[in-house]
Amino acid sequence: RIDARESLFIVNEFSKSHFSENLFESNEGKSVGMSYFKERGFYESTIKKFGLGYAVRDRSDLYEALKSKQYNIEVATKLGVVKENRDFFNARVMFSIHNLSGKVIGFGGRTLSKEKKIPKYINSPESEIYNKRKTLYGLYHAKNDIRKKDECILVEGYTDVITLHQSGLENVVAASGTSLTEDQIRLIKRYSPNIKVLFDGDNAGVKAALRGMDMILAQDMNVKLVLLPEGEDPDSYLKKVGVDQFRTYAETEAKDFIQFKTEMLMAETANDPIQKSIAVKSIIESISKIPDTLKRSLYIKQYSSILELDESILHRESNELIKGEM
Ligand code: CTP
Ligand code: MN
Ligand code: MN
Ligand code: MN
Ligand code: MN
Repeated sequence: RIDARESLFIVNEFSKSHFSENLFESNEGKSVGMSYFKERGFYESTIKKFGLGYAVRDRSDLYEALKSKQYNIEVATKLGVVKENRDFFNARVMFSIHNLSGKVIGFGGRTLSKEKKIPKYINSPESEIYNKRKTLYGLYHAKNDIRKKDECILVEGYTDVITLHQSGLENVVAASGTSLTEDQIRLIKRYSPNIKVLFDGDNAGVKAALRGMDMILAQDMNVKLVLLPEGEDPDSYLKKVGVDQFRTYAETEAKDFIQFKTEMLMAETANDPIQKSIAVKSIIESISKIPDTLKRSLYIKQYSSILELDESILHRESNELIKGEM
């Protein structure tokens, strides 16, 4: 007898194989899906490794396949691949989302349509086996290299993970779908305390990147940020400049998060004491999240001249914040 949880994995695995067969064998899949992936420069080995596929236009395709093989439609509905006896994903290229042991827990589907009204990606809902807050896209494929390089590269999207991986940067994951959570950070920490965030070179990217950073500091991890050129994401930028220049950029442009935040806030602040105090408070707030007293002191020492405030004042401010937390 198969238990309930196991049956969810089985239906997802069947769905993945079905999307894969569509991509490699059906006329529609080959002409639409496969040519899209080829245009994006994905190799066949990459497509197989990451469990990419294609959901056809016909909205009874997967549904009928499941039924003919006597899979439980209720289970498929729980997983979200089927909704109201029709396919949830249609006319989309498909990305499998894996858990830490490589089993498929959900899917992301990207439209090929340029129609603005159609959402670019739709994703499986959460289920008994898919908790978005505890999932990092790509971690199953990245975990060994994160440990080996003692660094995890965090990006925004599915395609960023895949393109970097294909170019030999295998320590890459994405928090796709959600903004970064504490559980996701803890998951990374199992493999390395060092995170490098490569975020899209647009305002949304900067905001998204700054949001999760204090959480990383609070878990005594080290975080560096790399801002990509305007309009680029890791996938597009790597394809534009090639892997060697990409690597160099990611190494030379990486800034310590506190440094990045300080430079950004101080640049926005006129020489006005009120504005400046708000900026300094926000910077001290981040520094105060660092649990290690020594590290904290060294940051304060280093930044007191840039912030034009005595170390003792910064220490007092920081200690008050820490007391407030306790
Ligand atoms: N995303 C999502 N739903 C959307 C838009 C985005 O879940 N409607 C998630 C996806 O995981 C996506 C990530 O956010 O990969 C980043 O979004 P975006 O930068 O817009 O997409 P890319 O990954 O760059 O995809 P592409 O290169 O195919 O445009
Ligand atoms: Mn973006
Ligand atoms: Mn984005
Ligand atoms: Mn992209
Ligand atoms: Mn992007």
